Amino acid sequence: MASDDQKVLVVDFGAQYGQLIARRVRDLGVYSEIISCDATADEIRAARPSAIILSGGPASVYAPDAPSVDAAVFDLGVPVLGFCYGQQIAAVTLGGEVGHTEAGEYGPARIMRSGESQLLAGTPEEQTVWMSHRDAVSQVPDGFVVTSSTANCPVASMESPERRIYATQFHPEVRHTEYGRQILSNFLFGICNLVDNWTMDNIVEQEVDAIHEKVGDRRVILGLSGGVDSSVVAALCARAIGRQLTCVFVNHGLLRKGEPEQVEEVFTKQFDVDFVHVHAEERYAQLLANITEPEEKRRIIGTQFWNEFFAVAQDLDGVEFLAQGTIYPDIIESGARKTGGKASTIKSHHNLIPFPEGVHFDLIEPLDHFFKDEVRALGKALGLPDHIVYRQPFPGPGLAIRIIGAVTPEKLTMLKDADAIVREEIDAYNAALFEKTGERNSERSVWQYFAVLPDIKSVGVMGDERTYQRPIILRAVDSSDAMTADWAKLPYELLSRISARIVGEVDGVNRVVYDITSKPPATIEWE
Ligand code: XMP
Repeated sequence: MASDDQKVLVVDFGAQYGQLIARRVRDLGVYSEIISCDATADEIRAARPSAIILSGGPASVYAPDAPSVDAAVFDLGVPVLGFCYGQQIAAVTLGGEVGHTEAGEYGPARIMRSGESQLLAGTPEEQTVWMSHRDAVSQVPDGFVVTSSTANCPVASMESPERRIYATQFHPEVRHTEYGRQILSNFLFGICNLVDNWTMDNIVEQEVDAIHEKVGDRRVILGLSGGVDSSVVAALCARAIGRQLTCVFVNHGLLRKGEPEQVEEVFTKQFDVDFVHVHAEERYAQLLANITEPEEKRRIIGTQFWNEFFAVAQDLDGVEFLAQGTIYPDIIESGARKTGGKASTIKSHHNLIPFPEGVHFDLIEPLDHFFKDEVRALGKALGLPDHIVYRQPFPGPGLAIRIIGAVTPEKLTMLKDADAIVREEIDAYNAALFEKTGERNSERSVWQYFAVLPDIKSVGVMGDERTYQRPIILRAVDSSDAMTADWAKLPYELLSRISARIVGEVDGVNRVVYDITSKPPATIEWE
């Protein structure tokens, strides 16, 4: 990968900080990776960074178990930039001092610049930044100058242009820091002389070349789920190796209305690959009959996927590689490749694939250094349709965990029909917002929305007839990462239209209810 010759390494002192900084660096067109703060200077050198950023973190530098940084990192000859905890750890490691301020500073603050600064070049004398700290540098190390301060914080930023070490007490990666982008840009381009070559077109080219080089004239197999990650891997491989790729689409019958047809359409008409549509609907229906326990449903569905997949794989001759849609957050969150590829720290999510006896494939994971929105941008650049690129999160076990109780063909049909109406209406609502705001994930757009079919019936009246039928539960949430979620405050007219349409158009449904619980205490899914 050409990005190897240019890489900003973010040393992470507290998980969420590192990811945000790496994202900002990539947004400016420079490839960036995260490395744990346990990494030694030798490991950091081995990763061949062009620049190093020390992230913020929740600890106090004087706490007994406070994470530290190997002092030799400052002697690698690579420019270093520290934020918040990163500034404090740089200061104490290099002979300065950190003191405990009484009040601390949390939220917006005004900094006043003092003297020349390469890092703050081109930004105003006084500006708003985002602060979040109690401790602060009280004495800068030898060779450093203070370049800005606030009323409560004498060293809001410092630098040693000679040693090429720069630091800020505030957080330039946070959007509330008015000139954060400019400051980061000064570091990357003004100080480190990097170029902005991390662009989607370059990336597609690099990834395609890398796959081509690794695979040569051999064959690759891939399990397509209909989701964005596996589809983008398929599209990349299609571009790189064409019909040397076999895409196996295991249709468990639990996808939403129209989805299997869409997947087939894209990977038979738009991309020239070997496409195998495994019709496993009947087998899944039998396996799931009478299963009511959610985890049991998940286990059966997952196990059967690999049974179906390997049945196809073993019939194909000469397949040496299995391609997978693992993305960068999966790797960061599993603690794998903690030090930029160091084998001993790989916990190996790979072991999750239950290869049958005697079966082995080498893995190709072309997305393992991409964040989710970069995967979407890649999908766009490769020409995948919007319904795949912007597909909302959808659970692997599919509609089986949205039917409370046992799954039957009748319930599946009912849920698919109701869900199609929910999607149609909320898709249109989101699209109208997108048109107005230009932001696909604007604050008011809905993140995940679907129908749930509970295992109860209730009384209703239609015409002059008493009915005794099922309700549909509407679930629509706002979230950014699925860890927490709030129920979406949908307009009453929209709720009313969805309700009227479901009761009017879906056989067997006489009532619609809206789930107004956030996560926690509820989860997004009902099972
Ligand atoms: P919960 O219900 O735990 O869901 O709040 C969080 C997010 O994860 C999705 N989800 C799953 N995805 N397999 C998946 O691939 C699963 O078994 C599964 N269960 C929940 C859910 O749709 C939501 O986006």
